[in-house]
Amino acid sequence: MAWNPDTYNRFKSERSAPFYDLLALLKVQPDLNVIDLGCGTGELTALLAEALPGSHVLGVDSSREMLDKSVKTGGGVLRFECISIEDQLKKQQQWDVVLSNAALQWVPDHETLFPRIITKIKPGGQLLVQMPAQHHNLTNQLLEELGTWEPYADIYQGWNRVSPVLEINRYAEILFENGSKSMQVFEKIYPLVLDDVEALLTWVSGTALIPYLERLPEHLKSRFRNDYRVLLHQYFPKMPVFYPFKRILMAAQF
Ligand SMILES: C[S@@+](CC[C@H](N)C(=O)[O-])C[C@H]1O[C@@H](n2cnc3c(N)ncnc32)[C@H](O)[C@@H]1O
Repeated sequence: MAWNPDTYNRFKSERSAPFYDLLALLKVQPDLNVIDLGCGTGELTALLAEALPGSHVLGVDSSREMLDKSVKTGGGVLRFECISIEDQLKKQQQWDVVLSNAALQWVPDHETLFPRIITKIKPGGQLLVQMPAQHHNLTNQLLEELGTWEPYADIYQGWNRVSPVLEINRYAEILFENGSKSMQVFEKIYPLVLDDVEALLTWVSGTALIPYLERLPEHLKSRFRNDYRVLLHQYFPKMPVFYPFKRILMAAQF
């Protein structure tokens, strides 16, 4: 999927806020081996490394465009690698901390993904994950709906980006079933106050809209965007646009 770091970073502070909440759940210890799955531009990975003195932190991401913006320290304390989360999980290595901020919603089949991730955590280690609760978020639901309309449905041929994100109680069960000794799992609303629908469209353009557009031929991309804009106007008629963006946060020790 073609990520655009500039579009993604248009809402830097709104997108960073949940990361700080996730970081607050981390039990800080010295000399940890840490991995950040789907690290993006790596700015937040660098903050993670700063919060963990003496630790070695690896950020992995499959997007070269995002990684091109990553901080190059050269010191070995903070490293980045272009690799998919799926391929990274095939490696034998285990970690003291596995963190993922706003990335695992792009990886399918959480019923098998989460147990697999947990096998990569050392005894006593920690898992920290933040993801949008996509099934509850109207901007995602409207994209799914538009994907079933013609002429798009004809091109998508049954494809629709149905979110892999589960209900939070299921994540709590998966953590328990896979050996969690303690956990915090909760949903939190991050209020977005945006000037107008155009700003909301820009917000979605940085993430959820991308897979819908990249499957369309050039001449239908702007039509899809316009149809989506019309839908957003119907559901968000007031200005400023208030959008209660719901996210799932979890921290567990094993
Ligand atoms: C919304 S961004 C979040 C980036 C960063 N964690 C942050 O909080 O700013 C999602 C990132 O996940 C990456 N991503 C999505 N699917 C991936 C996969 N299967 N393997 C590796 N990275 C993936 C994307 O390339 C993108 O950089």
